[in-house]
Amino acid sequence: MSARRRLDFEDDHAQLYNSLTGQKTAKRIKQIDALPSYHLFEEPHFTLRLTRREFAHSALAAGIAAALPAGVLSGCSASSKAGTANSVPLASSRPRQFDDSSEILFPRNFFWGTATAAYQIEGGWNEDGKGESIWDRFSHTPGKIKNGDTGDVACDSYHRWREDIALARAMNLNSYRFSISWPRIQPSGSGPVNSKGIDYYSRIVDALLEARIRPFVTLYHWDLPQALEDAGGWPNRDTASRFADYVEAMARALGDRVSDWILFNEPSAFVDLGYLEGTHAPGRKSLLDFLRASHTVNLAQGAGFRALKATRPSARVGTAFSMSACEPATGSEPDRLAAERCHAITNLWFLEPALKGRYPEALAFLPETAMRIKSGDLDQMRAPLDFIGINLYYRTIASAPSAIERLSHTQEWLFPVKMAGGQQGPKTDNGWEVWPQALYDIVTRISRDFNRPPIEITESGCAYNDGPDASGVIRDPRRIHYHRQYLQAVAAAMADGADVRGYHAWSLIDNFEWAEGFSDRFGLAYVDFKTKERTVKDSGRWYAKVAAENRVETVTSAA
Ligand code: FCB
Repeated sequence: MSARRRLDFEDDHAQLYNSLTGQKTAKRIKQIDALPSYHLFEEPHFTLRLTRREFAHSALAAGIAAALPAGVLSGCSASSKAGTANSVPLASSRPRQFDDSSEILFPRNFFWGTATAAYQIEGGWNEDGKGESIWDRFSHTPGKIKNGDTGDVACDSYHRWREDIALARAMNLNSYRFSISWPRIQPSGSGPVNSKGIDYYSRIVDALLEARIRPFVTLYHWDLPQALEDAGGWPNRDTASRFADYVEAMARALGDRVSDWILFNEPSAFVDLGYLEGTHAPGRKSLLDFLRASHTVNLAQGAGFRALKATRPSARVGTAFSMSACEPATGSEPDRLAAERCHAITNLWFLEPALKGRYPEALAFLPETAMRIKSGDLDQMRAPLDFIGINLYYRTIASAPSAIERLSHTQEWLFPVKMAGGQQGPKTDNGWEVWPQALYDIVTRISRDFNRPPIEITESGCAYNDGPDASGVIRDPRRIHYHRQYLQAVAAAMADGADVRGYHAWSLIDNFEWAEGFSDRFGLAYVDFKTKERTVKDSGRWYAKVAAENRVETVTSAA
């Protein structure tokens, strides 16, 4: 994936400034912004992961910061001294080792799971009355997905779901996180449910329960019905009500057997990538759409939470947030402040609205008019989640741009935070840094800042593309090593007081990895994408042992 990103949103900016600050300011900003486009993330070391998440965050805050009066903006800017401080890299000074040989025991009722998502595994894209989703439309648009791949068939789990559950069983899992395809239930996003869609998930739930595996249901993992996108998508406030209706329908249909629900998977990822960066469905590139979609999703989180609880009062409801530990690049004060802004933007943009009924304070300014925040909305966003789901893969290094950098890079003038991937740890095959400390750091921080909530690790995993050897065995020691270290980090956080209830490896099987198509393999089981045949990898066998024994042994003795 190209590290260099361009985004044209000066029209949006002009609109945003007009609505926020009036013509005078808008003109001033417009002059400074007299550029064909913004060039963000020019540094070659930016990874796909950062592009997917942090890029949009930068642009979001660019809009926010641009709307600030000049004095306020400079108040959170870095001094040029930050450049000097950069020569003392803090991030490299405290790597923590998670690869010792000590054994770790987990509590008896710990959930050992894997996670999947409907569009990534099901296929059956137009079967049994299913409506079109934004991912169907997007993947059928030439040039959007690597190698022209689509999720039309994916892993064919629409027909092979029994095999998937057999795999989960073979891995001794007691939790299986999967998502419901909204357009399979409501083909055009509203109205009566499609009974064939309900039946499909109902059978899966029954089979999981029979196998003594907890069905852990994600209601929205990015596949919005296309009809709702045509009506304005997530930037349209009405989508929050449509979502609440759909949640209620699912609570009615499965809530007698499903007790643990995830409202959204990674809201910041699908809002950023889908509405601002445009690299994911529905492929829009608009700052205003991004801001409005963010607010609708926060409203939908509140409305969905209430709909579920009204229908099934004893249900446990959370969201799976995409998180990253934000480390200051140096010990300087500007970099420390930058890391706090990175944390607010990356980790709290959808969490604080739910738990505290507000947008993160570290952002200092909220473009309320542009986001169409109405009176009473802050209360509507509240959702006292029963658990916080954390998806974490890597860390982020935050630094404050120097005055010179801010003058020479528009984005850094607007938004005084630079975010980059760490460079010290080993890289997975898709270039993400392996850094278990990040999981420890974020779990302990969320635990501390939100009064020790129940936490589920709803995703963590690594892309390693090892395939079958001559004898058909898939040897993937690097994946074993990854999960072992990340589990050590979880155990350390628990020892330090965090209430972690479960760990879900991404993923049960290799699958369709969004814009990357089938080129990244995250599974504990290998999928031959021609035959759809599944084969448990060495890592799957290792994880099965961990789950059975509730214990992580050394790699050598377990593998
Ligand atoms: C997460 C997504 C999941 C998968 C993994 C690798 O951000 O939630 O669907 O793509 O990354």
